[in-house]
Amino acid sequence: MQIRPLSRDESVPMDLLLLADPSKEKVLAYVEAGACYAAFHEQDVIGVYVLLSLSQQTVEIMNVAVKESYQGKGIGKQLIRHAIAEAKAAGFQTIEIGTGNSSIQQLALYQKCGFRLSSIDRDFFLKHYDEPIFENGIQCMDMVRLSHTFQAD
Ligand code: COA
Repeated sequence: MQIRPLSRDESVPMDLLLLADPSKEKVLAYVEAGACYAAFHEQDVIGVYVLLSLSQQTVEIMNVAVKESYQGKGIGKQLIRHAIAEAKAAGFQTIEIGTGNSSIQQLALYQKCGFRLSSIDRDFFLKHYDEPIFENGIQCMDMVRLSHTFQAD
């Protein structure tokens, strides 16, 4: 598997991006403003993530997704580790990610990759998404924010 940035003239894997974020409008906005990386198995795109700088010091993983038939094989973890390495190499001090209170697997994955809980944006998903979202039998209402700060070398 190869992970690399997509160039501006390559199309983004919208089907995968929508697995992580049901708002096409929001996805298009941060893909345009940020950098989209894709994981390839031969010619197929099987994973994606998007990095967006929030300031000179901080960058956020706005979206991460793995094609359904490839999930559970460690690719999500490789994408998160790749994003962390890219952020560090680009000179950022902190990388952030946000997920839903109901996203149990994602909360586990991000903490396994070194992220720590930093804050909660209460009612984020109620305010910003038209349709109610349920996962693991839990309504997704609050955004849990996590961050990982790099040690000074
Ligand atoms: N509870 C706790 N941990 C779980 C879990 C669960 N129900 N399901 C998986 N995990 C853990 C695994 O244990 C694994 O850690 P390990 O390797 O130490 O065992 C870890 O999650 C990562 O698994 P991995 O195989 O790398 O994940 P993946 O390739 O399936 O990718 C997602 C993870 C979230 C990117 C993928 O499932 C996906 O695309 N989901 C839909 C889009 C999405 O929700 N994106 C995130 C939006 S915030």
